[in-house]
Amino acid sequence: MKIVIINGPNLNMLGIREPGIYGTQNYKDLEAFCKQACKEAGADCEIIQSNHEGELVDAIQSAYGQADGIVINPAAYTHTSIAILDALKAVGIPAVEVHLSDIGAREEFRQISYAGMACEKTFKGMGFEGYRGAVRYLADRCQSKPDR
Ligand code: DQA
Repeated sequence: MKIVIINGPNLNMLGIREPGIYGTQNYKDLEAFCKQACKEAGADCEIIQSNHEGELVDAIQSAYGQADGIVINPAAYTHTSIAILDALKAVGIPAVEVHLSDIGAREEFRQISYAGMACEKTFKGMGFEGYRGAVRYLADRCQSKPDR
């Protein structure tokens, strides 16, 4: 099985940006963590990060026919992007939303997640562990009901 992990804007600044909220580990550490999580789950993985909404849409579209699951942290676009929601709906690939921080306990403007409306599950406030949870969920799901 193949999982595509898609990370949105400013996640490349991990370790520098607001460490009190997002922690002190950097984006390379997150990539290594995700690769290990996929290896443990027996899944091939591709990891993409972009600061541009259209590139995130392109990454979702490129997963069509290629991936069995999508793990997505759209970062700030979570709360604004109908284009990402539509792309996830268009490809129809099982998707899981991840947020390092607990968006439910933060500002009012973070309370809506458009991408989440097309996701089967959300992991929030668990730091990097949320990505492991998402990968495991997709791997288990793929074993119990393979779509392809
Ligand atoms: C985030 C939460 C978003 O609200 C924020 O804009 C981010 C990161 C998280 O992982 O906690 O950039 O998605």
